[in-house]
Amino acid sequence: MKTVLISDFDDLKSAADILKAGGLVASPTETVYGLCANALDPSAVAKIFKAKGRPSDNPLIVHIANLDMLTPLVENIPQTAKLLIEHFWPGPLTLVFKASPIVPKEVTGGLDTVAVRFPSHPIMRQLITLSGLPLAAPSANTSGKPSPTTAKRVIEDLNGKIESIIDGGSCEFGVESTVLDITSSLPVILRPGGITYEMLKKVLGRLEIDPAIYQGLSGDLLPKAPGMKYTHYAPNASVFIVKGDPKRAAMKINELVKEQQNLGRRVGVLATDETKHLMHADLVLSGGTLSNLNTIANRLFEDLRRFDDAHMDIVYTLAFPTNEIGAAIMNRLEKSASYNIISI
Ligand code: TXA
Ligand code: MG
Repeated sequence: MKTVLISDFDDLKSAADILKAGGLVASPTETVYGLCANALDPSAVAKIFKAKGRPSDNPLIVHIANLDMLTPLVENIPQTAKLLIEHFWPGPLTLVFKASPIVPKEVTGGLDTVAVRFPSHPIMRQLITLSGLPLAAPSANTSGKPSPTTAKRVIEDLNGKIESIIDGGSCEFGVESTVLDITSSLPVILRPGGITYEMLKKVLGRLEIDPAIYQGLSGDLLPKAPGMKYTHYAPNASVFIVKGDPKRAAMKINELVKEQQNLGRRVGVLATDETKHLMHADLVLSGGTLSNLNTIANRLFEDLRRFDDAHMDIVYTLAFPTNEIGAAIMNRLEKSASYNIISI
């Protein structure tokens, strides 16, 4: 298949036509690039799973561009949802509702719930509006790889496998939306993301975090967001997180780098602006300063992919604080490291 690259806003109509005909289009969103298909067409949705190599029990998020599109997808809109919608939509918050019968099981992974998101990105919104369709859209990467935050990374993974890719520059947040289950009385964060626990707490008063998110899935806990149990966000290199005071962790990483280089391995380090000058490795990248976690989140997936570009065998990274967007950063890093954590 020849993948058409669209970089002109005026060509969005042709992308909408592809979606209406049951094809796949990758589009930028404010979080990461998404791989879109008509959410109500099971055979279009099946193509998403094929193009990504995604396990079929991992449900998809349905994207809408106005509130009228929500009603037919869900059984009901609880009061909590109305409050959250007022505060956070459009934006990087996905809400899990009881699904209506029109949502295909290919989208829900056979669950009786559906995840819905109203993105704020103008291109994605325009695409939904022009097609007139709710769009199922997972991140536009090969399953297991770090999510793409530029069109270039989508091309790397999906060129030749999908009809079209829209180039809308780089994404604002760089980590995916927060997934919040509102089907029981106490809302539960199933995946930390762009709308943080702190922001949600201010509005909701009480909410929980799915304990499986931070347990490394080593115990009996099965995550409620099915996608969270799979290998994810992983570059080709093996990733190790070194947790502890940043300066001491930097020293420990330098020791580890030397050991690995002596074994003939190419070693990368993900540091911060504060620690970068202390680190020695084949490639040292800085995500930004510790005082601005938003920048670190924004660059995280791109940095992981840059280590692959430079053919690193091993990557060591510092740990980041887990407040605000840091919760999403550490969740993604822990998964990309398969929970290989060295505490000092
Ligand atoms: O920011 C985002 O959410 C991006 C952009 C493209 O919108 N999309 C995205 O989709 O991250 P994906 O498929 O990579 O992640 C969807 C997550 C998975 O962890 C999945 O298991 C969970 O949402 N999910 C989807 N439907 C669910 C449901 N009904 N119940 C619980 N979790 C669900
Ligand atoms: Mg994904």
